[in-house]
Amino acid sequence: MAGNTFSLVPVDVPRVDTPFRKINTPLPVPASLPVLERIRKVECRSMQGQPPVIWHKAQGVQVEDRWGNMWLDFSSGVLVTNAGHGRTKMLEALRHAADKPLLHNYCFPTEERASLAEKIVELAPDSLNKVFLLTTGAETTECAFKLARTYGQTISSSKTAFVTFGNSFHGRTMGSQSIGGIPALKSWIPWRDPSIVVVPFPGDFRHPSESFDVFEKVLSDSGVSPSDVCGVISETYQGQGANLMPVDYAKRLRQWCTANQALLIWDEVQAGFGRTGTMWGFEHYENAVPDIMCLGKGVSGGMPLSAVVAREEIVDLYGPGEMTSTHTGNPVCCAVALASIEIILEENLVGRARTLGKILQAEARRIGDQFDEVGHVNGVGLVSALQLVEPGTTNPNHPLAHRVVELCYQRGLLMFAPVGVGGGALKINPPLCIHEDQLRDGLSVIEGAIKEAVAES
Ligand SMILES: Cc1ncc(COP(=O)(O)O)c(C=O)c1O
Repeated sequence: MAGNTFSLVPVDVPRVDTPFRKINTPLPVPASLPVLERIRKVECRSMQGQPPVIWHKAQGVQVEDRWGNMWLDFSSGVLVTNAGHGRTKMLEALRHAADKPLLHNYCFPTEERASLAEKIVELAPDSLNKVFLLTTGAETTECAFKLARTYGQTISSSKTAFVTFGNSFHGRTMGSQSIGGIPALKSWIPWRDPSIVVVPFPGDFRHPSESFDVFEKVLSDSGVSPSDVCGVISETYQGQGANLMPVDYAKRLRQWCTANQALLIWDEVQAGFGRTGTMWGFEHYENAVPDIMCLGKGVSGGMPLSAVVAREEIVDLYGPGEMTSTHTGNPVCCAVALASIEIILEENLVGRARTLGKILQAEARRIGDQFDEVGHVNGVGLVSALQLVEPGTTNPNHPLAHRVVELCYQRGLLMFAPVGVGGGALKINPPLCIHEDQLRDGLSVIEGAIKEAVAES
């Protein structure tokens, strides 16, 4: 979705000086404009669209620029820094790995890679006993798709159909967009794979009452026999609205996949590593254990690393050298990822996400209830989405959502630009190491910003 861009004309904003947020300059900072202009000149437009801050350093839940401004970070980058920014343990691991010195390994093993692979397998459900390390989330979903199709071929040559959900997002490469559920993102692809079937996601406030029968009906209306389905992929919660599916639906989906020898793939790229108050998002589904799960973002807390975790007989369908990626298991990335996971475990950040998540969910709903412009609030653990709408409708209100993000930015609270259907959703997802007072402080900024944006509109 092409959204608004933030203006590069500096405006005087009230000074902010609280323990968590400091704004001392007009915004964007006049001295930052040459850098912003430089980058806008040489980088593609798609890299624009976020509040114009030049990140200089970041620690814990705070991000600073070079000009004395400090933002409380409710973005976690883009749900990446689960353990927090600039954590000493992660920096030490990075230095230690780099100081060997060693920056690259292709598929040659390193101790760092062995330790990370073991740790991921140890944390995964028992049946998922092998891992393939990659670099981006999109690579993992493409790989899961390929594995499902390959697996299907071992059962029957007609077992090629693949099911995904409306509004789902699995990345921006051709394969990952093909298995996504957002039609606008596929407009550049001249042909559609006829055996990819998109069924409505059952936990969407715009279509609230979808039962599992709808899943079966859409398949049958598409002329697809259940026995020809090789796999089903879903985010555990949909990134666009922070919405889970109903537990019963997920359970039936698991049963249906087992009955039809279709692989169930949970895309945990956003949800994994504690974001929802459980290590994995699928734990909310009474352990509807997947056959494959896709990990990214929070797996490494900032280094480019992702992982496919699967049952051995699935991921080992390809032999030595048949699935590779140049940066697989980069030793520095592996060392940092391991340190990030250790922090998550040692500091029980999963439990913290669960506890503070109750406050976030209650407060987000309380804020939403005050405004006709907030059509729906959803979330779990330390992720929440406020859907801004045109009052009385479910139509997304992108300009209003964009203005709220801008006002937050001006008050020292960093959120990324609104996402989701029509760009109407404000996503709240701070690092999991956040404290209650910081969480409440940021939420009060959001409340004030919505009030002001609504009054202006
Ligand atoms: C659920 C989900 N899957 C896959 C991806 C793609 O990850 P990446 O941007 O690392 O390719 C994302 C990214 O936002 C995501 O949220």
